[in-house]
Amino acid sequence: MTVRTLLKMGDPRLLRVAQPVPSLSADFLPQLLQDLLDTMVAAHGAGLAAPQIGEDWQVVIFGSGQPNPRYPDAPVVPYTVLINPVIEPLGDAMEDGWEGCLSVPGLRGLVPRYRRIRYTGWGAHGEHIEREVEGFHARVVQHECDHLLGRLYPTRMTDLTRLGYTDVLFPGLDAGEDD
Ligand code: NI
Repeated sequence: MTVRTLLKMGDPRLLRVAQPVPSLSADFLPQLLQDLLDTMVAAHGAGLAAPQIGEDWQVVIFGSGQPNPRYPDAPVVPYTVLINPVIEPLGDAMEDGWEGCLSVPGLRGLVPRYRRIRYTGWGAHGEHIEREVEGFHARVVQHECDHLLGRLYPTRMTDLTRLGYTDVLFPGLDAGEDD
């Protein structure tokens, strides 16, 4: 069990384009995946990307298979490991939704994302993953994969008047340990 330090906005390591994982049997993968999971669970995150713990690899995890106390109204997303992910929008439709980020603690912002996407990548056991998803699931994947491009959600916002503190925007929401 290793809960790693989360990098916060302003750290230049969050602005790098992450490197592709060279092999699904790379030595560092099992420990990296375990650290990501331990850290995401401890922080009550909806997802986590390797750059957020300072690891410069194209690896994200998201979902839990259970409701998330930080997003009580969101549909349940299955726990997923994605290595070297690729996202393809399905259609041009965009949708605004509120996002937080463990690297931007205490804040939420209204972010436009593609409503429907197809994503592909590899799972924890080297299996190929290909899914077509929409709504919150699609949003989480776009948010996490943006970390691999060195993008944090405020850089995707089109109206910065919709960026604010979680406890002001959503008073009474049990935001868990942090945002
Ligand atoms: Ni994030």
